[in-house]
Amino acid sequence: LLMLQVWAGCLWLGHSEVVQSFEESCPKFFYQETPPNNALKPQDSALICQHYNGQPFFATLYDKSKRIPVYSAYIYQPGNTPIQRRWLVEPQLISENLPNDMKTEKTLIKQYLVSPQLISDSQAISQDYNNLKDWDRGHLNPKGHQSSKDGRLATFTLTNVVPQNTTLNHGAWLNYEQQTMMQESRDCKTTYVITGAVPGNMHISGGRVTVPSHIWSSACCKTTSNQMKAWAVIAENDKNEVEILELGKLEETLAKLHGKGQVSLFHKDCPRY
Ligand SMILES: *[C@@H]1O[C@H](CO)[C@@H](O)[C@H](O)[C@H]1NC(C)=O
Repeated sequence: LLMLQVWAGCLWLGHSEVVQSFEESCPKFFYQETPPNNALKPQDSALICQHYNGQPFFATLYDKSKRIPVYSAYIYQPGNTPIQRRWLVEPQLISENLPNDMKTEKTLIKQYLVSPQLISDSQAISQDYNNLKDWDRGHLNPKGHQSSKDGRLATFTLTNVVPQNTTLNHGAWLNYEQQTMMQESRDCKTTYVITGAVPGNMHISGGRVTVPSHIWSSACCKTTSNQMKAWAVIAENDKNEVEILELGKLEETLAKLHGKGQVSLFHKDCPRY
């Protein structure tokens, strides 16, 4: 019984990056500490509280079989501090006993003696995205939306990345990330963002990583005059177009695309229409 208690204690108190619930272990990246409902949750998924250098910077729901995130949730803090990016992976998708900080593949192999095979079984690796012309490593939480150095470096985990149409990533999506977000959030106190991807039928890397059919983003905030405000966008991953739509309309669209019931991305106070 004691052993069981100790074991259960580790499960609950363990300061792990792969967590049991965002409400308990990574709540601050969601407006009113309310994560999306379960209608987006795939069968084989992991909740990742994205730690870098000992600090949490955002939260990701990861689809382990498709090897792409479903969404990343973060607070919008635009910045452009220079960084030296390195691609990272999530050790705790391999084993709970590995560190709760994201690491490079090289560090896991050299310092933690993890086999490359175990890493690539558990998630997408850098190699999956090498030498692709049509597809970029599209960030859900982009570095441009984080101001601290570590916050920006943390966005380079491959668990925050999907194969995104190169033209879209450098075109209309970049325009959304830079212009639309700046304009929409102008009156916001704290802007809570959830950006996600809808899995499609195509794959890269010999079937290992699913290409999304759509990429979407949504945000909610309280304004400086204490009004609630929300907005949303969606893009098809084979066009260079971003559609701006109401939050309620995005939730309806995602419910249709995922087919697992009504979708709620934000706390009920965030206006749908
Ligand atoms: C990417 O988007 C461009 C612009 O709309 C389109 O012409 C191209 O076919 C797309 N590429 C893929 C691989 O879907």
